[in-house]
Amino acid sequence: MSGARAVVVGDVIDDIIVVPRGPIRTDTDTAASITRHPGGSAANTAAWLGWLGAAVDVVGCVAAADVERHAAALRELGAVPHLQGDPTRATGTIVIVVDGETRTMLTDRGANAGLDPAAIDDGMLAEAGVLHLTGYSLFDALSLDDLARLADRARAAGALVTFDPGSTGFIADYGLAAFRRALDHVDLLLPNLDEGRMLSGEDDRAAVADALLAHCPAVVLTGGASSVLVARRGQPAVEVPVEAQRAVDPTGAGDAFTAGLIDALLGGAGDLVAAAAAGVRCAAVAVRQAGGRPPTTGASGSAGEAGSPESVAR
Ligand SMILES: Nc1ncnc2c1ncn2[C@@H]1O[C@H](COP(=O)(O)OP(=O)(O)OP(=O)(O)O)[C@@H](O)[C@H]1O
Ligand SMILES: [Mg+2]
Repeated sequence: MSGARAVVVGDVIDDIIVVPRGPIRTDTDTAASITRHPGGSAANTAAWLGWLGAAVDVVGCVAAADVERHAAALRELGAVPHLQGDPTRATGTIVIVVDGETRTMLTDRGANAGLDPAAIDDGMLAEAGVLHLTGYSLFDALSLDDLARLADRARAAGALVTFDPGSTGFIADYGLAAFRRALDHVDLLLPNLDEGRMLSGEDDRAAVADALLAHCPAVVLTGGASSVLVARRGQPAVEVPVEAQRAVDPTGAGDAFTAGLIDALLGGAGDLVAAAAAGVRCAAVAVRQAGGRPPTTGASGSAGEAGSPESVAR
């Protein structure tokens, strides 16, 4: 796989982060800090891959008027954007209301629903070592048949198909049985523990991994600051340690983890355990800084304090 590209397909979002300055009062104003950041699980993963120096194509759909703004943000981090412009729908937007440790996410998928998988050409897949998809795309953009076809095309081109389920809330809305059918098209599943529990119906981590292996040959289960479990069919599961960080902002930790893992696989880490360890190093950078995207070298010169690409790719 060494030297190959990553192709990431899925959600591109505007995150609107709301931090109220006090308890939210209904029917009147509450002062708040409100900031807007480019986000989306797929786009964030592609951005982290670009930051790590991997060759990465990202395919998504935003409002036609926002194509250049989102493309520029991805390009700045080294990812190659292939953004479709939806003529009518607004760019997908998530309002994230931060209340202490809790976050409430209000999601309008907007233009993401208009993503056309037929626009992913064979030339792009031919150079792919990994095709990464997220569950969010299943909720509107991709039917199960679309997913199956795309995964088959990628596999025929020699790529590994990785998949992040994305959100327990949306899995519940979509329906467990249908969502489980999607897993049968995946080579490497990357759930967090909550998603793993929901998808497997099991509680214990080892049982979760075992149950998911019935669907796909490899599962890497994350659990926040707890260790990562790497499970492969026919092999004993392996724990990859995580050094707990005092998180500045855990947003995008899962996406950064995925990027670190995929970057290591593309870089020739034959072993999934070593790749998961690279994922842990990349996620550690993500939790030490604000926002879901990697640090850019801004005028302040402060970027990179949370960690450098070199510190991940050891
Ligand atoms: N507090 C922390 N300290 C160190 N590493 C962390 C911490 N929180 C998360 N991570 C790292 O990020 C990885 C992914 O975290 P987590 O399991 O929370 O994913 P997630 O719930 O999918 O995150 P996201 O909300 O970004 O989707 C973990 O495996 C770990 O490597
Ligand atoms: Mg996640």
